[in-house]
Amino acid sequence: MNLDDIRALKDKALAQFRQAATAGELEQLRIVYLGAKGKVKDVFTWLKDVPREAKREFGAMANELKNALQEAFDAKAATMAAPRKHGPVVDVTLPGVAPRVGHEHLLTQTVNEICEIFARMGYTVAQGPEVEDERHNFEALNIPPSHPARDVLDNFYINDDVMLRSQTSTVQIRTMEHQRPPVRIIAPGRVYRPDTVDATHFYMFHQVEGLYVDEGVTMADLKTTIDQFVRAYFGPEIQSRFRPSFFPFTEPSAEIDILFHNADGTTRWIELGGCGMVDPNVLEAVGYDSERYTGFAFGMGIERMVMRKHGLTDIRQLFEGDVRFLHQF
Ligand code: DAH
Repeated sequence: MNLDDIRALKDKALAQFRQAATAGELEQLRIVYLGAKGKVKDVFTWLKDVPREAKREFGAMANELKNALQEAFDAKAATMAAPRKHGPVVDVTLPGVAPRVGHEHLLTQTVNEICEIFARMGYTVAQGPEVEDERHNFEALNIPPSHPARDVLDNFYINDDVMLRSQTSTVQIRTMEHQRPPVRIIAPGRVYRPDTVDATHFYMFHQVEGLYVDEGVTMADLKTTIDQFVRAYFGPEIQSRFRPSFFPFTEPSAEIDILFHNADGTTRWIELGGCGMVDPNVLEAVGYDSERYTGFAFGMGIERMVMRKHGLTDIRQLFEGDVRFLHQF
């Protein structure tokens, strides 16, 4: 026997241990190599007769052989399942692995929150179709055919009369067509406009419309309602204001602004949406007596609110569906 023989023995044994397919085969190999009358034992027996000057080198080699084979055996044995006598072994005391579950999208959470706030003020939620006709999107809202908002390039027309709604104000008309006063609804939903996509524009976004019609509804009621809402959504310290404006379906009309505090300490008024007293022409268009009833309406951009509240800088994050972003909310 020489060093090469020991090396060859080691290589062969390691390969066989690796290839062992069953616990029985592995046990056979253990007996052949590591057993009391095994080949490793033979090497140590032979070692006794090795001349003194070579003993050191051969001894180290023999020890290495023995350790390597024992390790290979142990490693392989660990990969082989222990024989099961009574079916699978389940350790019921181990803590479970919680599956990663999804949750509502930030926009859905926000819509629900808005609905809750208005529900506390007595509003119910109304809905309307996203594919609309010109009557509900424009005509009944007192927007004449010549109005620039009706331009074919500013809307997604499907044919001459059918379009994707450009505002949730359509739901004002749809609700009043089917209900007599008092009417007190909000209508959250998607609207569509062919805007060029950038950090603050998308071709689809969400608005929440509000409508309250009854006898004796005043602009003071409108101001109070909007104040209550922005404080409930943004927090009691938020400042809001009405800025005179114009919408065909309200008279008088106002823009709703909130005061935003920049990181550098300066402040800036941010526009949230529009509102006003429902124009008598709109009430008449749905057969309401405009001498008897008055009302107010408002429409606010939901993405704007979400972005302000959560400090988002790019509207596209809300629509890309990146879970690394979504899981933060
Ligand atoms: N529909 C308007 C828009 O999309 C927003 C709006 C303004 C809605 C005034 C209203 C309102 O109900 O009274 O720009």
